[in-house]
Order: sequence, then structure tokens, then C-alpha cells
Amino acid sequence: MQFFLAITGRIFLVKLVRMIRAMNHTNGKIVQLEDVIKVYPAGDGAITVLNRINLAINQGEFVAIVGASGNGKSTLLNIISGIDHPSSGEVIVSGSNLTKLSEEELTRWRGKHIGIVFQFFQLLPALNLLQNVILPMDFAKMGTRKERLARAKYLLDLVGLGDQMGKLPSQVSGGQQQRAAIARALSNDPPLLVADEPTGNLDAHTSADVFDLFSELVEEGKTLIMVTHDEDLACQIPRRIEVANGEIVFDGSCNEIVGSPSS
Ligand SMILES: Nc1ncnc2c1ncn2[C@@H]1O[C@H](COP(=O)(O)OP(=O)(O)OP(=O)(O)O)[C@@H](O)[C@H]1O
Ligand SMILES: [Mg+2]
Repeated sequence: MQFFLAITGRIFLVKLVRMIRAMNHTNGKIVQLEDVIKVYPAGDGAITVLNRINLAINQGEFVAIVGASGNGKSTLLNIISGIDHPSSGEVIVSGSNLTKLSEEELTRWRGKHIGIVFQFFQLLPALNLLQNVILPMDFAKMGTRKERLARAKYLLDLVGLGDQMGKLPSQVSGGQQQRAAIARALSNDPPLLVADEPTGNLDAHTSADVFDLFSELVEEGKTLIMVTHDEDLACQIPRRIEVANGEIVFDGSCNEIVGSPSS
């Protein structure tokens, strides 16, 4: 028992020191975008999808990104996760300037610092749920094989799939696939989670379950950025960032909108 307490205390201390170090580096900000512009070629010309975005997100925040279709929400999220690159500007996430990293460095960085949840789950169809969750830990060479297996089982239990882990993605429902995708995003214990319309393909009940799970993760200290078209969900999230024509046109809470004279 004493041994167990000593190990738990040590893990807690190591995490605390890491957190304090990271906060000193970044002043508590986990995401910093400075003058980010994204231009895509379109026909003979070009389209500016993000136009001078300046944005800071603190560690532990729960943020909703909303806005009409085609206004740059996914592009913004992909730039924060280093999947896409800005045409100009700085992108500093978890203390790393992503614009300075090579593709290989970015892949390694992502494996450690960020968990990504997609609208269409993107689980590997030939692997069962357990293997899907283990995969990012294998890539990051995290712990021993036994520890990876134990963590994957723990995470699948956490998202309520303890009895489904041997099944292929095609053998479970959309909601179960999304919960497995969340377990996969959590596998390397990243401080930041980004989710692009994670409830877009789920019924209302399952959406609420996924949302509750996200809320619990934020309570435990994770930072969560979620793109959503679901206004009911968006208004339960403390910070709302609205994107229109590639610009941030609102950054506040839903209460401010309801209370505003224009509503
Ligand atoms: N690879 C690309 N090449 C050219 N244009 C692109 C590319 N990716 C996105 N776009 C354009 O950038 C704009 C913003 O796209 P984005 O996917 O960020 O929108 P969104 O707000 O996420 O929309 P939705 O709500 O429909 O998902 C759109 O006009 C889209 O056509
Ligand atoms: Mg999108």
C-alpha cells in the first residue's frame, strides 16, 4: 500500500512539475496564433480563408469554434494541430512554434502534445477498437507493451467500451466509434484535445454522452477546442469563438449574445 502511495505521489509530482514548467514557457497559454493568414489557390486567383487571426487559448479552457459552413473553422483547427500550415503568421502550441517544425518533427510533436477527434472518427477499419487505441502509443513508443495494453483497456473502459474492445469499427455503432476515437485521442495523455464536429454524426442522446465526457476531461485539466454546428452544445461551452469570412467576429460567452441589444 505504502509502495503504491509512493508511486502515485511521484507520478503526481512529475506531472505537476511538467505543468509548471510548461506554464512558465508559455505564460499559461497553450495556443497562440499571431497574424495567421491562410490563402488557398482558387482557379486563376486565390481565396483568403483565414485573415489575420490573433488568438490565445489558456491551459484548461473549453472553447467552441462556431460559424457558417466554409468560413474557415476546420482550417483554423488544422493549423492549430499542425495538420495544415499557415501562409504567414506564427502558430505556437504547447510552447512549440509549429511553423518552424519539419513534417517529421510535427508528426512526433502531435503524438505527444495533441489528441485529435474527427467528425468521421477515422478509426483504422482493419484494427479492432483496442488495437486502434494502442496504435498512437506504439508510434510514440510510450511505456512497455504491457503498459500500453493496460492504458488502452483503461481508456476504453472510461468511454464505456470495456466490453466492445475486440470488435472492429464496422461492428459497432457510430457513437461507439466516436467514443473509441476519443479514447485513441487520449492515449498519449495530451494536454490539448481538438475535435472537429465530433458530434456531427451522432444522435442527440449520444452527442450528449460525448459532450459529458469532454466536460469531464476539461474538469480534469485538459484544454479542449471543439468545432460545432450544434448551438445547444456550443452554448454550454464557456468560451465561444465565432468565425466569419476568415475572421474572428465574436470571442466571448453565449450569455453575452443573449444579453446583447442586437439579439
Ligand atoms: N485544400 C483546400 N484547397 C482549396 N480550398 C480549400 C481547401 N481546404 C479548404 N478550402 C476552402 O477554404 C474555405 C474554408 O474551409 P473550411 O473547411 O475551413 O470551412 P469550415 O468552416 O470548416 O466549413 P464546414 O462547416 O462546412 O466544415 C472553404 O471555402 C473551402 O472551400
Ligand atoms: Mg469544417
